[in-house]
Amino acid sequence: MRSLVLCLIAAGSVGLVGCQKKEHSSQPVASAVGPGSALPAGGDTILLGEVGSLTGGQATFGISSRNGIELALNEANAAGGVLGKKLAVRVYDDQGKPEEAGNAVVRLINQDHVKLILGEVASSNSLVMAEKAQEGRIPMITPSSTNAKVTQRGDYIFRVCFIDAFQGYAMAKFARDNLKLGSVAVLKDQKSDYSLGLADVFVRKFTEMGGKIVGQEAYSQGDSDFRSQLVALRKTQPEAVYVPGYYNEVGLIARQAREVGLKVPLLGGDGWDSEKLFELGGTAVAGHYFSDHYSPDDPAPYTQQFIANYKKAYGGVPDALAALGYDAAKVAVDAIKRAGSAEPQALRDAIAATSKFPGVAGTITMDEHRNAVKPAVVLKVGTQKSTYAATIQP
Ligand code: PHE
Repeated sequence: MRSLVLCLIAAGSVGLVGCQKKEHSSQPVASAVGPGSALPAGGDTILLGEVGSLTGGQATFGISSRNGIELALNEANAAGGVLGKKLAVRVYDDQGKPEEAGNAVVRLINQDHVKLILGEVASSNSLVMAEKAQEGRIPMITPSSTNAKVTQRGDYIFRVCFIDAFQGYAMAKFARDNLKLGSVAVLKDQKSDYSLGLADVFVRKFTEMGGKIVGQEAYSQGDSDFRSQLVALRKTQPEAVYVPGYYNEVGLIARQAREVGLKVPLLGGDGWDSEKLFELGGTAVAGHYFSDHYSPDDPAPYTQQFIANYKKAYGGVPDALAALGYDAAKVAVDAIKRAGSAEPQALRDAIAATSKFPGVAGTITMDEHRNAVKPAVVLKVGTQKSTYAATIQP
């Protein structure tokens, strides 16, 4: 028995409408709410699909993205919708599992007949989704998956964020130029395409910049004891440890690093971005650095307006996932408008032509590989929140 969640965001609502929890024994992903149960008739609505980790070890990723997407679509609907129609989104929870993410895409295409798919956050999940979306020739925009291979799955796959070739470079540069580090060790998640890709780039770039990688260790997503790897790395006497993982493990790693006497700063990537990092890591997370897509300290008026609206709707400061979810949905709406149609091929072409689109997490122009090229920020982790430390340009 699996417990799966399907949510339907209806036209114009601020909250979720028709959010159901269902038990299924044979269905890989939640069955859909009956057509029209929370929506105006199909002809008045453009239905989008979304896949995210609303439960499981990466739940804050999916929830933040969903909020950002919902906010953007509600704004579009409040402004009259697009092409005379309202927008709605059908959301599937993949529980952070690649196979579930792929199944959800098949269902969104074959059963729900969505025009476009938003998601996922974790690259390993987006890689499976992208394969299915490309097969079905339905445009997919991942808000936040940074692994290079995701958009290489085909010409219907896009992202509104930078890729890890840049993110790894950004942290290597920060480590060398800002922190003046000479020797760094690496601790990566061997179950995550994101982590492996990012570790590779960091090692290459840091070495090219004249730094030395003194040790490398690996763990697997879901592990809870990292002490033996941390002890091995301590013995290499690094000045910092690069940990390109997700918050769930990073919080524990930060604690256990202190426990085993590894007291140097930890460095990471966007996967650290979650409120839960503070809960899991306590004071042991303070003083570390990670690269990210946006900082709530960004004074840009458009970004500050988004933060204010998000706070009003959801009661917290939006993280990078929320900001990128918002941007991805806005890009989708803009593309439907410019295409004058929600027909997949026209929509694909319009997304590919996205140029200088003002996102809350930076300006979005699609390059020929369907990736956005944008600066990264480096955030310094505190005890309750992270603060802006630097911007690294592409
Ligand atoms: N970039 C990560 C990945 O590709 C996902 C992520 C993005 C996590 C932004 C947190 C913040 O797997």
